[in-house]
Amino acid sequence: MPKPLLCDPSLLATDLTGKTYVVTGGNSGIGFTTVEQLAKQGATVVLACRRPADSERATSDILARGVRGTITVEGLDLADLGSVRAFAARVLARHPAIHGLVNNAGVMNTPKGRTKDGFETQFGTNHLGHFLLTELLLERLKASAPSRIVILSSCYHDIAVGRKGVIDFDDLQFDRRPYDSWAAYAQSKLANLLQAKELAARLAGTGVTAVSVHPGWVRTRLLRSSMPLWAQDTLLRPILRMAGMLEPWEGAQSTLHALLSPEVPEHSGAFFSQIGWYRDKRANRGGWPLRSPNPQAHEPGVEVRLAEVSRRLVGLPG
Ligand SMILES: NC(=O)c1ccc[n+]([C@@H]2O[C@H](COP(=O)([O-])OP(=O)(O)OC[C@H]3O[C@@H](n4cnc5c(N)ncnc54)[C@H](OP(=O)(O)O)[C@@H]3O)[C@@H](O)[C@H]2O)c1
Repeated sequence: MPKPLLCDPSLLATDLTGKTYVVTGGNSGIGFTTVEQLAKQGATVVLACRRPADSERATSDILARGVRGTITVEGLDLADLGSVRAFAARVLARHPAIHGLVNNAGVMNTPKGRTKDGFETQFGTNHLGHFLLTELLLERLKASAPSRIVILSSCYHDIAVGRKGVIDFDDLQFDRRPYDSWAAYAQSKLANLLQAKELAARLAGTGVTAVSVHPGWVRTRLLRSSMPLWAQDTLLRPILRMAGMLEPWEGAQSTLHALLSPEVPEHSGAFFSQIGWYRDKRANRGGWPLRSPNPQAHEPGVEVRLAEVSRRLVGLPG
């Protein structure tokens, strides 16, 4: 396996006092590591989490290790647009500036299911919940510029366990085709990439940078619908490591680079990839940024069409 890409260590030592970041899914995996690093550097971090007890546990774990910044916990269930609206209202009321939004939370390979608002679980949680959240926080991000939006996509936006990532505009919710959990994940992760592309074009000249990232294949709880976590974390861990599985600290590198590197605003709208698995093997080494091997990621107008459809689905005016 190629070596993982690492964020410049000097960027992880810069002082972020006075900066505010919102990180969804901050209680676990890549999000948890991201929250801890930003707080270490002195930032105020809003840790968004759907399980209050676990967010308390996550926060006290971080605070026990000592950080200079502040962590505030806010409840957020991305599978419930009412919860997204309430979360955004609380964040806007409590934080006069937002310098970074990290749309990190996600689910993968979930059984057939629906969000509270009736959307397919992975498209609804990974894309539509974050889409609404981003739109609701956008004016504050603009007013706080320079600011950044970092959206966690995946190399699986290209090909996920043999399924090519496609936005099926005729059947976004798997109403007409048989449900396929990997195809649904790939569609949601392609939507993440396209959201960053569309935002970047719309936000040109505002000082808000939007990018998507692939964090690598990372030892987190994401795999819980695919294999028992105890096996991942004990028995299979050395084998999985040899096969390329990264630790959460390595998995947070793409996000931290996207948030902190001074080079990233030159590439607004781009996809930043850790090492991964693509249909074009030359992309497997990753790249900050990387041209996606998925042809639909480059289809003219597809990102605008997705944004229009998403606005309608989440009930925002056109
Ligand atoms: N790990 C990988 O190999 C990998 C590879 C490519 C991309 N990614 C992406 O990286 C991101 C972070 O995942 P991870 O690997 O760190 O996995 P993780 O440890 O499972 O973390 C995912 C986070 O998302 C939260 N979440 C799930 N559904 C939610 C909902 N409805 N509302 C609010 N929060 C919700 C989870 O909350 P709970 O704790 O309550 O479940 C958890 O905090 C995801 O977007 C994933 O697609 C990961």
